Amino acid sequence: MQDHFKDKAQNWDSGDIRVNGAKIIADAIEKEIQLSKDMEILDFGVGTGLLGFRIAPKVKQVYGIDTSEKMLEKLEEKNKPGLEIKAYHQDIIKEPLTKQFDGLISSMTLHHVENLDTFFKTIHTNIKENGFIAIADLQSEDGSFHSDNTGVYHFGFDAENLVQIVQKYGFKDVKTQNINTISKPHRDFEVFLLTAQKN
Ligand SMILES: C[S@@+](CC[C@H](N)C(=O)[O-])C[C@H]1O[C@@H](n2cnc3c(N)ncnc32)[C@H](O)[C@@H]1O
Repeated sequence: MQDHFKDKAQNWDSGDIRVNGAKIIADAIEKEIQLSKDMEILDFGVGTGLLGFRIAPKVKQVYGIDTSEKMLEKLEEKNKPGLEIKAYHQDIIKEPLTKQFDGLISSMTLHHVENLDTFFKTIHTNIKENGFIAIADLQSEDGSFHSDNTGVYHFGFDAENLVQIVQKYGFKDVKTQNINTISKPHRDFEVFLLTAQKN
């Protein structure tokens, strides 16, 4: 499995941009979705758990899936009794999970997914009836967000296009909203949250 994040994992949690960004996404998810202590949630592209660990205290169990062994090693270092993410080291598209979850959360990972149709078709099978998805990522950008675009398949997303794809694969009540602006020295980048319910 290719690991585009092996050199980034060590310092992934350093600095404020990612840590604060994950907090803003978690707060926005909590505002939109009624989380409860009986829920099992999947964090797609969980990485070091920046989003998952914020959601974990509100639900029964957060599971994470990630293709990067090194990112998951950092996540495991942060696991402790009472606050633990159960991680799958696999590609959700090439090796889909059979388990069903009450909801799927995701932060800044969708732009690494080459085929969105396959992705949404796959995850639809992993969500229980009336379960939710809450996916945060970049609005359309000019390709300058990452200094190296290896493994980046989308320069952000046009929210309206994404809504149509999500509806096509059996989700309803699809909503997008801008939740954050990431300021880099050369320009600002907008982050959206898409939420929807499985039909
Ligand atoms: C930009 S990082 C975001 C990590 C974390 N969600 C955060 O906000 O800090 C994207 C993560 O998605 C993972 N990833 C990319 N494609 C994936 C796939 N098809 N299945 C599982 N994980 C994937 C990468 O290994 C990486 O850890």
